[in-house]
Amino acid sequence: MRIIRKIKTIQSLVKKLRQQNKKIGFVPTMGALHEGHLSLIRRCRRENDIVVLSIYVNPTQFAPGEDFDRYPRQEKKDKLLSRKEKVDIIFYPTDKEMYPDGYLTYVEVKKITECLCGLSRPGHFRGVTTVVSKLLNIVLPDVLYLGQKDAQQAVVLTRMVQDLNFPVKVKICPTVREPDGLAMSSRNSYLDPIQRQEAVALYASLRQAKRKVENGSRNASDIVSFIESYIRENTSADIDYIECVNVDSLERLDVVSGKVMIALAVKFGNTRLIDNIIFKV
Ligand code: PAJ
Repeated sequence: MRIIRKIKTIQSLVKKLRQQNKKIGFVPTMGALHEGHLSLIRRCRRENDIVVLSIYVNPTQFAPGEDFDRYPRQEKKDKLLSRKEKVDIIFYPTDKEMYPDGYLTYVEVKKITECLCGLSRPGHFRGVTTVVSKLLNIVLPDVLYLGQKDAQQAVVLTRMVQDLNFPVKVKICPTVREPDGLAMSSRNSYLDPIQRQEAVALYASLRQAKRKVENGSRNASDIVSFIESYIRENTSADIDYIECVNVDSLERLDVVSGKVMIALAVKFGNTRLIDNIIFKV
């Protein structure tokens, strides 16, 4: 396994690999690797000759006052896990390497970034699309692996790849959960034991909402109210949003039908958690 910090170094290595017709799979992350990340890496390993993992806590996707400074960083453990999963290359750049002095260029996807998480995290998706554009240009992968956990991010990046003609196939992998249903996230480590227990209510409420739809409920505001009450009764969290949307367009639904996603974001103190459930009606 090679750990590469310089863009020039990885670019010349990738050039060689491409000349050898190697199929390159790419998993971008911010590190603090958990089973969610590892599931992407394992699928990437199965489907490609070369697995490239990037670990970079990207400053441009954190709004002022967010958790950039305290975001978990665990280089040693991440390297061990990556080696175990047979990652070929870790790209581990510095801020100076990614955003040198004089940096001026950003990539922005309109509309689908202006709802859900986009409303409470100004500039977040612009940071994500900018850094992933740069990473795609640097790594030149054949396949990009993303997680369903960050559903809006997956929709936005899929749109960006299509709109800007990046020659890469996007594969979205299912959300990996703790045994009690909580979606795995690097941010779960911020939760105190009580919050951690309460956080089970997020996915539990989504599952129950889905069951309501299966039993005939179609009114989106009824579904949202149900989830809202469930979370209020079972947790101390502040609700950021709960919405029923179309899974492709992210447009809000009044009537729950078609390819539906129920998505939510809540805050336990300063810890913001997101989750979603997707189903066809
Ligand atoms: P990060 O939060 O580290 O997540 C990296 C990838 O792992 C994302 O595609 C995310 O959706 C996926 N992932 C996280 N938790 C998951 C889970 N429980 N199950 C399945 N997949 C999961 O998302 C980012 O980093 C950044 O925004 C990034 C795309 C790297 C750009 O900086």
